[in-house]
Amino acid sequence: LQIIESPGDARQWTVATTADGRVALVPTMGALHDGHFSLIRRAKEIAGHVAVSIFVNPAQFAPLEDLARYPRPIEDDLAALRREGVAMVYLPASEIVYPPGFSTYVEPPAVAAPLEGVLRPGHFRGVCTVVLKLFQTIPAHVAVFGQKDYQQARVIVAMVRDLDVDIEIDVAPTVREPGGLAMSSRNRYLDANQRDVALCLARALTVCNVYFSSGTDDVNILEAAMRYELGVDRPDGVDTVDYAVVVDGQTLLPVTRATAGCVALIAARVGTTRLIDNHILR
Ligand code: PAF
Repeated sequence: LQIIESPGDARQWTVATTADGRVALVPTMGALHDGHFSLIRRAKEIAGHVAVSIFVNPAQFAPLEDLARYPRPIEDDLAALRREGVAMVYLPASEIVYPPGFSTYVEPPAVAAPLEGVLRPGHFRGVCTVVLKLFQTIPAHVAVFGQKDYQQARVIVAMVRDLDVDIEIDVAPTVREPGGLAMSSRNRYLDANQRDVALCLARALTVCNVYFSSGTDDVNILEAAMRYELGVDRPDGVDTVDYAVVVDGQTLLPVTRATAGCVALIAARVGTTRLIDNHILR
């Protein structure tokens, strides 16, 4: 595992390595878990060489979000990357990515506007900016993102298309813990009881898909069923629901009748931990 901290060295590594075969990039914020490992394994299937970036990007956190307490178990992460046979990890310091005087940001595409765009203003501006910087620094053939961050994946696909970035975007299925909880670095914040409560996100998405596949396409009914499963008014339910919606799978705009390819998306809080999950309707 080559550990690289400067953009120049990362670019040089990528240019040299692409001469020898396909390179896949897996961008992460560290605190790696099985969800990340599945992205890395998928990257290995589609490219001979895998690079991973680990950078907790301050530009995508709002002032009151969890930037300071975001887990940073770097030694464990490096050991895991070695185990997974990753060729290079890009590990830049914050001052390298955002040096004094940094002032250029990417205006995110339209698909960034609803949902997370309303609840986390500035989040996708930070994501797009850092991801575009990563694509410049590590000009890989393909970058792998998780479907768990559904809106983020749509935003990156649109940014790459709109800005003619020469990279293929691969979106890999969500990996779940037993019981269905979508894997996330933020699951570390949950205690045992909160983990049980958190299972209702996956349950709500399953119920939504069962209703849909048995012929219910009225979005009001599908959304009400998800809200009921989330149990916000019950002691065994989540603490708050930011959204539990069925929307167009491409634009993420509201629909009244669901069709296959629409997506059910949930953001909810269990204690102080904000969880997101989604399911493409079939
Ligand atoms: O999904 C993430 O971990 C982050 O949003 C990303 C894509 C690495 C950008 O910081």
